[in-house]
Amino acid sequence: MCGIIGVVGSTDTLSTLLEGLQRLEYRGYDSAGIALVRSGETWRARSAAGTESVAALRLECEDAPAGFTSGLGHTRWATHGAPEAVNAHPHLDCSGNIAIIHNGIIENHGELQEQLEERGHVFTSVTDSEVLAHLIEESRSEGLELLEAVRASLLVVRGAFAIAAMDATEPDVIVAARRISPLVVGTAPGVTYLASDVPAILDRASAFYAVNDDEIVRLGPEGFRAIDLEGSPVRLRQLAIDWDLETAQKGGYDDFMTKEINEQPDALRSTLLDRRRHDGTISFDELRMSDDELREVRRVVLVAAGTSHHAALVAKYAIERWARVSVEVDISSEYRYRDPIVEIGTLVIGVSQSGETIDTIQATREAQRRGARVVAISNVVDSSLAREADAVIYTRAGLEVSVASTKAFVAQVAALELFALRLAQLRETLVPRDVEALFLGLNAVGAQVARALERRSDVEAVAKGLLGARDFFFLGRHVGFPTALEGALKLKELTYLHAEGYPAGELKHGPLALIEPGVVVVAVATDPSMHEKILSNLAEVKARGASVVAVATDDDETIGAVADYVLRVPASEPMFTPMVDIVPLQLFAYAMARGLGRNVDRPRNLAKTVTVE
Ligand code: F6R
Repeated sequence: MCGIIGVVGSTDTLSTLLEGLQRLEYRGYDSAGIALVRSGETWRARSAAGTESVAALRLECEDAPAGFTSGLGHTRWATHGAPEAVNAHPHLDCSGNIAIIHNGIIENHGELQEQLEERGHVFTSVTDSEVLAHLIEESRSEGLELLEAVRASLLVVRGAFAIAAMDATEPDVIVAARRISPLVVGTAPGVTYLASDVPAILDRASAFYAVNDDEIVRLGPEGFRAIDLEGSPVRLRQLAIDWDLETAQKGGYDDFMTKEINEQPDALRSTLLDRRRHDGTISFDELRMSDDELREVRRVVLVAAGTSHHAALVAKYAIERWARVSVEVDISSEYRYRDPIVEIGTLVIGVSQSGETIDTIQATREAQRRGARVVAISNVVDSSLAREADAVIYTRAGLEVSVASTKAFVAQVAALELFALRLAQLRETLVPRDVEALFLGLNAVGAQVARALERRSDVEAVAKGLLGARDFFFLGRHVGFPTALEGALKLKELTYLHAEGYPAGELKHGPLALIEPGVVVVAVATDPSMHEKILSNLAEVKARGASVVAVATDDDETIGAVADYVLRVPASEPMFTPMVDIVPLQLFAYAMARGLGRNVDRPRNLAKTVTVE
């Protein structure tokens, strides 16, 4: 989520860092900083001015001393700690010699910080990242060179990271490492670069190398060498990069939507990281609500718009099933105009990717006026919704650029289901063994999503066969219903074709009259307990001449009897299926849109964030 750049051996260090940070803008950021390091001197500048942070940083750097050949730069997308200059990277150790930048989440930062403070270290930020600077400082004080000091520190941290460290007492060296978060090294004669993403160094380096998980690399002006966590030498794989800047910013994909669809396993992993304590308690660092307050919840009302509304609908099933609390879901633009009832114990949850959707903000304001406690589920740290709410849970999907929401949806479902599990723990409506199994199951969804993504070409073949169709009905039961709604929304907004989502059982109550040859019915048929009923609904539409597309699990041998086309997905626990089943539906909408020559990232008439009612 954060952007990283580093350089050693450069004659224009400052512009390399600032231009690199500017090129990471598409990742989104709320603050930015650089550190220039040379023998005995570390010069640092940081700014937190939202999307203007790099511009503000540029101004601060007008006073930077000349002659530095090495440095680090960072753009931050806050996860722990508010987006303020003190929390912006680089962070320094107590001596001020060591500078670190970090992308990711250090899961055990709390306990590490406690131990470091007991040993006299002084922290100056509210971030999980700063522990790294102090851990490296301790190892350096034991005489380890920077490479070994970083290695020793990584042996005690848990979580996801791409980090880079410099030390003014060992100048012209950067040591970097990764676990999960991306990192590349670039080389040019006499200069070595480091970045979270190729665009940051695309026009500077002539060769690029990928750092793999748990590899540590030492960069000097003459080049680099890498080791693994045991200290054994490893070779970095060279990347064949012939991208222009635009392609590079899209991660090599044709458009942001494809990039974001493919980022879904990472979005899930980030959203779920650092959410369970040693004793099994599910916890949200950023949720400013006590256990007692949560225990008092008697009714939950979810308010949201569009895709976020569909994620909220999934949450209704999970919260009611697991925590036995009654849940209502409202379209946010309707909530404030229907004279809503807010009783003691009503918790209102506003769900929004941007956190700036005016309908949802107005709905949560109305709820607060009527005395409700409000929790925001937001993908953007410090968004208006997050600031105004009494408490917040962040989905950590990273910036979503494409207008059609994809990775935000799976992250919202994951965060809301995790919240449902927390409520169930507090209300003791599930036994610990079941919470544990569901938590582990939720953590396995990312891998199932990755497998669903591998079936892209099968989905494309189905879309090709249906390019002439003009009317689509998406059907589902239980959580398959919100999945169907979301599948229909993706198709209509991307292709401009008529697509509606329905609970499959509702078909006979009216819409069946519209079914005739040429109409396509897309059914979510992955839940074994709903399977028979869905099959008979599909038989009804098939008998009336519709073409049938079914999303079905790999082991489903009966679906072929009613479906003309089958989109296969790996089986998962029914409550988790929306996160997996939506993948072929996103890919289907995308393939149809491309086939029809639509602009997938910018559908007509739509804006990414709706700030007017
Ligand atoms: C659909 C889509 C919109 C948004 C809706 C709410 O692909 O992107 O329906 O989901 O405008 O936006 P947020 O989640 O930012 O409140």
